Amino acid sequence: MRRTLSVLLTMLLTCATLVTPARATDSREVTYDRYSLMVDGRRVVLQAAEFHYFRLPSPRLWRDVLEKFKAAGFNAVSLYFSWAYHSPKSGVYDFTGVRDVDRLLRMASEAGLYVIARPGPYINAESSGGGLPAWVKTVPGRARSSESGYQAAYREWLHHINPIIARHQITEGGPVILYNAENEYQVNTDAAYMQDIQDQARADGIDVPITTNDCCDGGSWSSTWATGPGAVQIPGIDDYPQSFECANPGLWGPWGEGLTERLRDDIPVFAAEYQAGAIDVGNAGYDKCRELTGPAFMKYFYKNNLVTTGATMFSYYMGYGGTNWGWLAQPNDVYTSYDYGAPITEARRLTPKYDEFKRQGYFLQAVTPLAKTDPIAAPPVDNPALTTVARANPDTGTQFVLVKHADRAATSTDAATLDWAGHRVPVQVKGRDAHVLVAGYDLGGQRLTLSTSEIMTHAAIGGRDVAVLYGTSGSPGATLLRYGSEPRVTVLDGRVTSTYSGGDLRLDYTHDGLARLLVTGGGRRPLLLLIGTDAEAASFWRTDTASGPVLVRGTDLVRAASVNHGTMRLTADVAAAGEVEVFAPPAAHRLRIGGDDVRVTRTSSGSLLGSTRPPGPAPLPALTGWRAHAESPEAQPGFDDSRWTVADRTTTTSPHPPKTLPVLYADDYGYHYGNVWYRGHFTATGAETTIDLNAITGLRGNYLVWLNGRYLGSAVGGVQADSGDQWTPPNPDPGPGHFAIPSGLLKPGADNVIAVLVANMGHNDDWIADDLRFKQPRGLVGASVGGTPITWRIQGAAGVDPVRGGLNNGGLYGERTGWHLPTYPDKSWRLQSANPAATPLTPGVTWYRTSFRLDLPENRDVPVGLRFGGEPSPAYRVQIFLNGWNVGQYGGDIGPQKDFSLPAGLLTEHGTNTLALAVTAEQPVPAGPGPISLFAYGNVRVD
Ligand code: GAL
Repeated sequence: MRRTLSVLLTMLLTCATLVTPARATDSREVTYDRYSLMVDGRRVVLQAAEFHYFRLPSPRLWRDVLEKFKAAGFNAVSLYFSWAYHSPKSGVYDFTGVRDVDRLLRMASEAGLYVIARPGPYINAESSGGGLPAWVKTVPGRARSSESGYQAAYREWLHHINPIIARHQITEGGPVILYNAENEYQVNTDAAYMQDIQDQARADGIDVPITTNDCCDGGSWSSTWATGPGAVQIPGIDDYPQSFECANPGLWGPWGEGLTERLRDDIPVFAAEYQAGAIDVGNAGYDKCRELTGPAFMKYFYKNNLVTTGATMFSYYMGYGGTNWGWLAQPNDVYTSYDYGAPITEARRLTPKYDEFKRQGYFLQAVTPLAKTDPIAAPPVDNPALTTVARANPDTGTQFVLVKHADRAATSTDAATLDWAGHRVPVQVKGRDAHVLVAGYDLGGQRLTLSTSEIMTHAAIGGRDVAVLYGTSGSPGATLLRYGSEPRVTVLDGRVTSTYSGGDLRLDYTHDGLARLLVTGGGRRPLLLLIGTDAEAASFWRTDTASGPVLVRGTDLVRAASVNHGTMRLTADVAAAGEVEVFAPPAAHRLRIGGDDVRVTRTSSGSLLGSTRPPGPAPLPALTGWRAHAESPEAQPGFDDSRWTVADRTTTTSPHPPKTLPVLYADDYGYHYGNVWYRGHFTATGAETTIDLNAITGLRGNYLVWLNGRYLGSAVGGVQADSGDQWTPPNPDPGPGHFAIPSGLLKPGADNVIAVLVANMGHNDDWIADDLRFKQPRGLVGASVGGTPITWRIQGAAGVDPVRGGLNNGGLYGERTGWHLPTYPDKSWRLQSANPAATPLTPGVTWYRTSFRLDLPENRDVPVGLRFGGEPSPAYRVQIFLNGWNVGQYGGDIGPQKDFSLPAGLLTEHGTNTLALAVTAEQPVPAGPGPISLFAYGNVRVD
């Protein structure tokens, strides 16, 4: 018998080792059911925001953004990985420096955030080619399909990026919780492609659930595709209910109610991309986009989505937008700034939208029964202007009631009595506000019967519960708590009345400032109740220490805290003097913020109260000493182009046949980003009268033409609309330009030189998976000079900048010669009396350079920007280089932007910086750009 048992035991143990492979000690498992994701069986409400590391080429600022996400109550970050950003040409991949995504994933883990990894291959994101490298345009086989040429290309990318993601998965002890395949890919396009992306991921070691984001409420990968080829484990939906019409910020859900549909019964409801800002398609400026998608929208739409659909997986697009530096932007919808009107601005400043995310995010993290709810009958209100929707957790009975206007467009303030759980309590909805109220909830050691205030957070601190509740300023509130016997209520601050009956302590009040109450006795541990307005609630930060959670009121951001030998240490940002109050374990009696000891007193709330020290000034220097130099030597007939690439191809993989031969498409000669030069030589008969060209540049692009050194003029380049698509044929005459040859300029019987500078504003995206659009060429697509044969040479970027990458430079002479680099010796250049605005411009390219020294105070975040005063002329466009980094484009009707971010890291905060401007004028202009100055977006102590 004993022997049999031991054999059985050995067998069991062997089986156990077989089914549970050895894993890293801190490895965990991700599972899910119809309610939520689970990590090692614990339910998680996923609250993610999108971040594009490629739009912030400064790894140390990644940490800042990620910490700001965490401090807003996000528990995850959604990351697109841009193929184009890492691969300048087939077979070449770079994951170093600003492309070090391994470091990015480590930082996300250090910040305490899960990661939704979104490596495409297609990502859209208003990025050039939608994230497909431009070299993919020259690959045979339809992009975003399973056709062989493209398949080889995307597999190459996946086999580079997947292993990096794989080693950071939760199952390996890392932060990656989900893997998103493709982007808004329609099921009827090519399911085999969708399947192969997943097969490659699995083969590369991806073992977390695979998701996808469906566009436009399409439900493309929904229930019918649960098992079909290409089906993913958790399809989600993208929702942009406010549209992108930033010029009209009063809009209210023009693109729908924004309710994320339940796609299947076996998976959670996943809001894969939920609108948290907008692209500025109408050039209204991002502040308007922030208004369009501001706190009012967030309160109504996000809370409505939460309670009406029961979604537990959210990813908000964008949490931080960043910058389309270099040639990162797709040409059709965006300009240099990709601020997006997000909760965190391009210069990493926090906005009122951040406050609203914090109020909602803290709630989602604190009130865990939210992770598993079913719809229930909602308690009624006695005013038809208002309506209620409710859900409950089937295990705990906790109820969540949404109170909002019945007419979603209503803007009035309406009050009602809510008949709930045997109690009649007042509610009020002001304008487009909406409230999620909770009943039947174990709030730490307390039992919340119900509250018409919203819960922001609560924490057990020093043997008592501390809870922060809030409501619209001036609105009535009632909170009921259950006690075995009548507790003692001490109102420390504000006006609150209390009554005890039937086992419930009822508190009635108006939301006004911050009321404080201490409730003791009644058979429970003490409760400190803080009931504030929205603004008061937003002033709280919650963070965790080894000795438990801590709440801080005040400062501008709390990144971390610790308690040691009686001292509470905060890592916090301070922009102005103000109160700081810490709710910490009683052992803490001293406060230190960064290097500063803060004098504190203990308050009647048991907290430590002190004041913060404001940052000192951080003056910035004036920009003087500009030097100028004309370039465009390529326009001159004697210029030596013998080392340029001969453009003599007669075939192309592009679906667009060239208008004339040879093929002159820049991509076909390996020049993918920025400007390209062409030089065409012909022996004139003398009968030629015009030069007829066609060029495609993408929106807002132009091209400039010279003959034998004489400037003939410019034309507007072809745009996406010229490409046609599956419904419309391509325009046979895109971006035409007809240039009359002035008499006496031709040299009959001799070599004549046409020089053309063509802008490339970026590549169309491939949103509809249509090669006609995506593979629309850039550069010259037709050229004739009365039928006389022309031989062509082409020159684009000189190579790939090893630090800044393939998207930093095009083929301007100055770029090829290093005029944008800090090391370039410019002493021989003409010194300007003042700034570039002081002198007229001639057609062609003129460069300006200056340098300035910075010595910004230590432990300070002073985001610096470059400001162009005055109105830009549509006749010139400026490429801005900071220490060699192409940080943006100004003028030329490119967008409304006048302020350009110079992010720390590219900017030397202690030392010399070089600015270089390449100004391309298409006609004579009386004054150059400017006046140009430096400014600070903020000034914050970061201790
Ligand atoms: C979505 C897309 C994102 C982004 C967004 C608009 O459809 O998935 O990549 O383009 O629209 O900003």
